[in-house]
Amino acid sequence: MTDNQSGNEKWKSEVDKIKQRFPERKERFNTSSDLTVQGLYTPDQSRSYEKDLGYPGQFPYTRGIQPTMYRSRYWTMRQYAGFGSAGETNERFRYLLKQGQTGLSVAFDLPTQIGYDSDDPMAEGEVGKVGVAIDTLEDMEVLFDRIPLNEVSTSMTINAPASILLAMYIAVGEKQGVKPEQLTGTIQNDILKEYIARGTYIYPPKPSMRLITDIFAYCQENLPKFNTISISGYHIREAGSTAVQEVAFTIANGIAYVDAAIEAGLEVDQFAPRLAFFFNAHNQFFEEAAKFRAARRIWAKIMKDQYQAENPKSWKMRFHTQTGGSTLTAQQPDNNIVRVTLQALAAVMGGTQSLHTNSRDEALALPTEDSARIALRTQQIIAQESGVADTVDPLGGSYYVEALTDGIENEVNEYLERIKKMGGAVQAVEDGYMQREIHQAAYDAQKRIESNEDIVVGLNDYKLDEEIHPDLLRVDEQLEANQVERTQKVRKSRDQNEADKCLKRLRQAAVENNNVMPHIVDAVKAYATVGEIANVLREEFGEYAGM
Ligand code: 3HC
Repeated sequence: MTDNQSGNEKWKSEVDKIKQRFPERKERFNTSSDLTVQGLYTPDQSRSYEKDLGYPGQFPYTRGIQPTMYRSRYWTMRQYAGFGSAGETNERFRYLLKQGQTGLSVAFDLPTQIGYDSDDPMAEGEVGKVGVAIDTLEDMEVLFDRIPLNEVSTSMTINAPASILLAMYIAVGEKQGVKPEQLTGTIQNDILKEYIARGTYIYPPKPSMRLITDIFAYCQENLPKFNTISISGYHIREAGSTAVQEVAFTIANGIAYVDAAIEAGLEVDQFAPRLAFFFNAHNQFFEEAAKFRAARRIWAKIMKDQYQAENPKSWKMRFHTQTGGSTLTAQQPDNNIVRVTLQALAAVMGGTQSLHTNSRDEALALPTEDSARIALRTQQIIAQESGVADTVDPLGGSYYVEALTDGIENEVNEYLERIKKMGGAVQAVEDGYMQREIHQAAYDAQKRIESNEDIVVGLNDYKLDEEIHPDLLRVDEQLEANQVERTQKVRKSRDQNEADKCLKRLRQAAVENNNVMPHIVDAVKAYATVGEIANVLREEFGEYAGM
């Protein structure tokens, strides 16, 4: 090292010297999206603060969508919950609200998600298992008993039958004296990721996209404060995609929904402000925080430059984050508290609007009350004790994070270009393109774990000779029989003529290509069931056999 060497040259010669005794752990360091991670990042003079980053609350929102972010309002602490009967889930909801969570998030069981009643043979063995069983408006009233819908926002993870559950939510609000225009919340309503990764679809793509834009149109008129879709990357990532693919395929789906809404005659600045997103937060801290910053900037540019949206609310990507379920291990479950903390921190440093933190035992079973409370406390400790919420975008300006944000943005844009050339997301999904990309990434990641190239603590290293299993939540075995009985009682006690009339008018609207939402609202108020309504649409639209 000589005096006239630059700092960088001096650093490099120091590194070469040290490598003699301590060679670096890897030949090449890289992120989950295979972006190279350099040993050191230094100022990049080509980056312009104003043009590339911008101020928080200003286009292109790299640093966050609100000028003050969490200094004014923490992200919404919104724990995904639901199992068993509406009564059991209502108890869990009220417990979590009492423990300080600030938003609701409903998990429905598979029969509800795929439009079957609990007494449908297709539902056998699944009633109340992965979420709450909802068959009729009566169940929905129990679900929100003693929860005033004008005081809390509710997310509903429901896609193919989204219109039915949204209609039930409207009807419950009215029964509570809450007008539709006062209701706040989100309906997931994102069918493309169901074809790609999650699987709870019913109808073919075309009618499915129509149902989605019917909800956009209906909410624009009647539920101006309700978010009409949660364009999800969470499940794409859970299926094994990389961080770049998660953002790319989600935004590609977002573009397809914007196109479908415009084709349905809707005006971009009318519907776009109520589009929302939903991402995953995996283990690689800096890549995850940079991923959110890149996603915001990409979406802002697409909405402003490609769609000429003029309302800044159309440019802002507002998103919910759930920590990565697939990163949880069944081994040494308490270790998952640490994983979830790091993942939650990445989401906060990335500027999320709403957050769910997974419970330590979810690789084994539905979360116990204790585990769900620890998951919520994790968010509260980050918010109240870490100081990270006290300034906007604390990672902004980090040489590494800005380089990663740029790198992710470039790779995502390359994917978007490829998908555009294929004819857009719906075509790419029908061609199986995204599925193939995800499966390859999942296979590669699994191989790295099996070869111990990637270490998962407790799973392929740092193992215990004997695992100690925590108490797990048990689902009531009588649940299915009780739910079936409840549903059959409602069918017997309702005004059957009224229910039949509503279902008939729904069928007519479906066939005549009119908005089905108003007729579904009438049908649920007549206590028609999820299955009966979904079956009318099955008969008119057909069922999708999948890719
Ligand atoms: N300055 C000014 N205003 C602010 C502010 C600030 N710093 N912070 C918040 N606000 C305002 C917002 O603008 C908003 O007002 P507006 O509606 O009039 O614009 C209000 O305060 C509420 O704030 P947000 O809208 O940011 O927060 P929400 O929590 O209400 O909404 C969302 C967040 C992402 C837009 C919404 O879509 C949402 O809640 N999504 C949740 C989705 C979800 O929970 N999904 C779970 C799915 S589970 C699943 O699928 C996984 C399973 O399959 C395993």
